[in-house]
Amino acid sequence: MGDRGDMGLGNEMTVNMVRYAEFFAQPLSLFGAGARRKLMDHLRGFSARRVMLCTDAGLMAVGLGDEMLHLLREVSALDVVVFDGVVANPTEACVQKGVAFYKEHGCDMILSLGGGSAHDAAKAIAVMVSHDGALWDYVGLNKLKNPLPPVAAVNTTAGTGSEVTRFAVLTRVAKKTKVTIVDRRLIPCIAVNDPELMVSLPPALTAQTGMDALTHAIEAYLSRMATPLTDTCAMKAVELIGKYLPKAYAVGTDMEARSAMAYAQYLAGIATNNAGAGAVHTVAHQLGGFYNLPHGLCNAVLLPWVLAYNAGECAERLLRIGDALTGGLKARSAQDGAQKTVETLRVFMRHLDLPNRLGTIGVKEGDLADIARQALEDPTMWTNPRRATPKDIQGILKTAL
Ligand SMILES: [Fe+2]
Repeated sequence: MGDRGDMGLGNEMTVNMVRYAEFFAQPLSLFGAGARRKLMDHLRGFSARRVMLCTDAGLMAVGLGDEMLHLLREVSALDVVVFDGVVANPTEACVQKGVAFYKEHGCDMILSLGGGSAHDAAKAIAVMVSHDGALWDYVGLNKLKNPLPPVAAVNTTAGTGSEVTRFAVLTRVAKKTKVTIVDRRLIPCIAVNDPELMVSLPPALTAQTGMDALTHAIEAYLSRMATPLTDTCAMKAVELIGKYLPKAYAVGTDMEARSAMAYAQYLAGIATNNAGAGAVHTVAHQLGGFYNLPHGLCNAVLLPWVLAYNAGECAERLLRIGDALTGGLKARSAQDGAQKTVETLRVFMRHLDLPNRLGTIGVKEGDLADIARQALEDPTMWTNPRRATPKDIQGILKTAL
């Protein structure tokens, strides 16, 4: 790791352990190959009259939806109806369709199958079948008043961590942005991370979703709300992603790599659920809203640029991230380590064939001022280690273009 004798890096990091903190946790999580079958035992305990399987047409087409349907009906003896109307970056229209479906079929439980879009849509549907008013009335922190129907979440990607979080991220089309409902009632009652459901994920999606998980871990570790609990989850996630994401990308059927990534994204989800995110997510939410781009891809492109911007405020912590990602950086100082961490991330992304310029993914120079202005309204900015102005954000975007 180089000579760090003069860096004081053996000391406790700068987490404020005196400050009041809350920690939100999942009631039940199932991991490992075949975990989806174990879910059936647990579902019986809910005595649901009718379960709404909330997924997308793509997962039905490749057979994952049918397999889940078979398990629910034949093994759990549950009455199940399929809603396959989830779209990527779910919108109000998608949620409204789901709400109508839920009511029409007299459902009283939701099982979401997919990645973050399926889980976020399911959470929003659960909100709107138990609350009056408009969906956007509940955007923000702790706006929910009533109990929600139970939502169980089965992951088919290793990235968003939505199966563990109290967040529902939705696209507000008219405002070209993504907004978040934040409430502990949104944490699914059961999370399932079965790597057998992830082996068919194509390499590009494996890379993008894995980078979303890495961004959660890194931003949570650099967050102003980090605690020893979130640090532990975040650092283990970075370590696992550094080792296993390239393997899962190279050989999709590598069960060890898929299993490790399932754990890693869950740990990163716990970290971001409690410490929040940062400026990468702040801007990624705008790019998703402006261009309907995949969330993980936006995060991946932005991550090194935003970290370079943040580096002066959190150099030691960035060095620790580089250590976890690589197994040990050679650094002369904290600043040197921070810079090397950013460079390491760029190389890591190159090996995953990910772009590193916003122009490559369709971002237009003429939109940068609007994106920057809108970004400052996103709550993920609150926990970023460096306070950013719209001019700062525009500067990052221009550099990254
Ligand atoms: Fe994310």
